[in-house]
Amino acid sequence: MKIDTVPALTAVCAAAASEIGSPPRVGAAEFRAAMRHMGASVTVVTAGQGAKRRGMTATAVCSLSAEPPALIACVNKQSACHDAVLRSGAFAVNLLASAAGHEHLAERFAGQHGVHGPARFRDDEWMELATGAPVLRAAAVAFDCMLHDALDGGTHSILIGHVVATRSDPDRVTLLYRAGAYSTSPRTPAA
Ligand SMILES: Cc1cc2nc3c(=O)[nH]c(=O)nc-3n(C[C@H](O)[C@H](O)[C@H](O)COP(=O)(O)O)c2cc1C
Repeated sequence: MKIDTVPALTAVCAAAASEIGSPPRVGAAEFRAAMRHMGASVTVVTAGQGAKRRGMTATAVCSLSAEPPALIACVNKQSACHDAVLRSGAFAVNLLASAAGHEHLAERFAGQHGVHGPARFRDDEWMELATGAPVLRAAAVAFDCMLHDALDGGTHSILIGHVVATRSDPDRVTLLYRAGAYSTSPRTPAA
């Protein structure tokens, strides 16, 4: 059976749920303990301009579609960045580089140095591409996105961004995060 519409898929899910019932969900602590083993590239998601700039470290980012070029970022609704994205209608995803002091940057944008708001941006060089969202000049790769939609995902919103510009530095290797530690990708990118 080919299912190619969302309403059809919803009906299939409802039918499956009524057949298997609703098993109890795992607790948040169990979920986090399992999820920390899922390695991912470390990014800083940014939005806004000037004094309204906000940014946060995020690993819950992935590709969504090639046509249109789109990605998703899962951003906590309580974060300052969440409001900045919704207010400005745009955001950038900056992939951090290993061997560029970016672990420190990741910690700062995760609030681990007690720095908040636009002060998180003061120690690095930033630029703009198409939307005006802050792009880290030293990022391994940056995606500049127009906000296409913000879907409810519980504590987080699933931000769908249509990519309007990219910037990449082939000499930089992306920084990874897994099980509470930062590391370097095993292979260097092709020239
Ligand atoms: C490695 C790492 C990955 C993170 N990934 C996410 C993420 O994908 N989404 C999210 O909402 N928060 C994520 N966080 C937490 C935010 O970076 C952190 O809560 C940040 O301080 C939010 O910004 P705010 O203090 O301005 O609200 C991550 C933190 C770390 C250290």
